[in-house]
Amino acid sequence: MAPMLDIRWSHRSRPPSVSGMSDSHTTPSARIAFLGLGAMGLPMARRLLAQGAHLTVWNRTAARAEPLAAEGARVAASPAEAADGADTVITMLSGPGAVAEVADALLPALAPGSVLVEMSGIGPKAVHGLAARLPEGAHLVDAPVMGSVDRAAQGALSVLAGGPVERVRPVLEALGNVRECGPLGSGAALKLVLINALIGGVAVVAEAMELADALGVPRGRAAEAMAATPMAGALARATSREADFAVRLAAKDVRLATGAAHLPLLEAVGAALTADPSIEDADLSALLKGAAATA
Ligand SMILES: NC(=O)c1ccc[n+]([C@@H]2O[C@H](COP(=O)([O-])OP(=O)(O)OC[C@H]3O[C@@H](n4cnc5c(N)ncnc54)[C@H](OP(=O)(O)O)[C@@H]3O)[C@@H](O)[C@H]2O)c1
Repeated sequence: MAPMLDIRWSHRSRPPSVSGMSDSHTTPSARIAFLGLGAMGLPMARRLLAQGAHLTVWNRTAARAEPLAAEGARVAASPAEAADGADTVITMLSGPGAVAEVADALLPALAPGSVLVEMSGIGPKAVHGLAARLPEGAHLVDAPVMGSVDRAAQGALSVLAGGPVERVRPVLEALGNVRECGPLGSGAALKLVLINALIGGVAVVAEAMELADALGVPRGRAAEAMAATPMAGALARATSREADFAVRLAAKDVRLATGAAHLPLLEAVGAALTADPSIEDADLSALLKGAAATA
């Protein structure tokens, strides 16, 4: 189990000794606002609470905040109320549209010196759009994550961070392993690269299993043999029972990618992801029809 990380200090006091931190980087936050308590946001916020953060949460559908209220979080009635008095404001929402909508109410409430940490998957263009709307004195870090709900609950996400990461490093480290990517938007860009490789890999595994069916190769035998090839990682994700990454969110990530570059294979994957509306809320592993037979 990862050691507990104390993130309770105030930006006015000296931070505890955390490896890699210097005294010039003393702005991590005791007071954290967390906006968006969906499949990922809820375990991430819970993790911060368990690590000692003074947490205020907000979710569009208020009922989803109730479990955290019972665990000690303050529940805000609006994004602006959540941001009031917060040093760090985290957004974990479905995509660029949701972030832009919430930003309308949130941005004017950001205090000078506070840091907005955008952790949803929205792509670099939307991150730069947010930066252009930041109020004077507020900062922005893009920090989308790889890893699903299981790793969110364990504080074992891979956090891809761009911008002034040092301002919020202890907060991000409470959620997982922090990879510093460079200037603002670089985390969001790397996230799109990685998630699209993963989604494409899962789609290819799904088709390979359909090929196995067509050729009379039992799926179990195909899976066992595939696990010994470089496709093992994609196969593991395609057959995961722990992940909860909705097909509609994968389609969003593919749209962001194909809007940024000419990617004919991913365009086909995007079409496959939207072909069956009945699986849009199911985990990505739903692409693998007859997945039970693969396990
Ligand atoms: N699930 C994963 O495995 C995973 C892994 C890595 C990254 N991500 C990324 O992380 C982000 C969140 O994923 P998730 O799985 O937590 O999604 P989710 O379960 O669909 O939750 C989406 C969240 O966004 C809120 N929301 C949506 N539209 C909104 C709007 N217009 N205004 C305000 N709030 C709005 C929802 O509020 P309501 O409760 O009111 O609907 C909910 O809190 C996505 O960008 C996704 O691509 C997901």
